[in-house]
Amino acid sequence: MDSELEGKVVFLTGASAGIGAAIAELLVKNGLKVVGVARRINRLNQLKEKLSKASGQFYPIQCDLSKESEIISAIEWTKKNLNGIDILINNAGLSRDTNLLNGNTEDWRMILEVNVLGLCIATREAIRSMNDRKVSGHIIHVNSMGGHFCPITVGHLLSMYVASKHAVTALAETLRLELARTQQKIKVTSISPGLVKTEFLEKCGVLGSDLGIPMNDFLALEPEDVAKAILYVIKTPPNIEITELMIRSTGEVF
Ligand SMILES: NC(=O)c1ccc[n+]([C@@H]2O[C@H](COP(=O)([O-])OP(=O)(O)OC[C@H]3O[C@@H](n4cnc5c(N)ncnc54)[C@H](OP(=O)(O)O)[C@@H]3O)[C@@H](O)[C@H]2O)c1
Repeated sequence: MDSELEGKVVFLTGASAGIGAAIAELLVKNGLKVVGVARRINRLNQLKEKLSKASGQFYPIQCDLSKESEIISAIEWTKKNLNGIDILINNAGLSRDTNLLNGNTEDWRMILEVNVLGLCIATREAIRSMNDRKVSGHIIHVNSMGGHFCPITVGHLLSMYVASKHAVTALAETLRLELARTQQKIKVTSISPGLVKTEFLEKCGVLGSDLGIPMNDFLALEPEDVAKAILYVIKTPPNIEITELMIRSTGEVF
């Protein structure tokens, strides 16, 4: 348990699976209070059960991040029951098996709603909560290496996703500038993993694609590796702001 972090309130999106579930587990074991939101409430409840003996607490809330009213009511619940947010982790994200030549608008809309707009709405509301309590908080965007370049091998399968993550890169830096210009001591970190072994790759059509590479043959990070990197950025002293952290499995080919 970490005494400096103990009791801090984290609002974590996409806590029901993959990287988000690993982040929730590590932070709760380090004594933090984690409000975990996602649509699959049964998964969140299972995680709560798993973490029932940890030093921190896990609070599951069902929330569809493509719906502004649901994001706002989950944050209102956090303010009412836990006093407010100290750390926001915008982790939820998706891609779909879609491209620009033949893709459908609904798939594109959902990627942009969750990866970009949901992230911005949660960020605005969390910063209001930090300012109400004069907290020097921390905003963390789980970005992607695809937010910095277009991977040649799979880029054609991830067009709108890569665009949404490039938006996240820009949004992290413009948020940092807005906060600095208004002298608000809130940190902003974009953390950009390469491939991570989660359901994400199966859902977005990269696996079983013309690459024909089975999941186990990828050199990829484990979700826990990204969770440890998040804990590292959270633990930096108040005068240090890690603005971008790129993390890949050693030898990754993308
Ligand atoms: N896996 C990778 O290789 C990789 C690489 C770089 C970056 N990333 C990024 O890492 C983050 C987490 O990805 P992951 O690999 O852990 O994916 P994952 O296993 O598919 O988990 C995605 C999470 O996002 C949530 N989510 C998706 N749509 C949502 C919606 N409309 N409302 C609420 N929650 C929603 C899901 O919850 P519900 O389905 O229960 O709602 C789930 O908890 C994403 O931002 C992703 O872009 C992943």
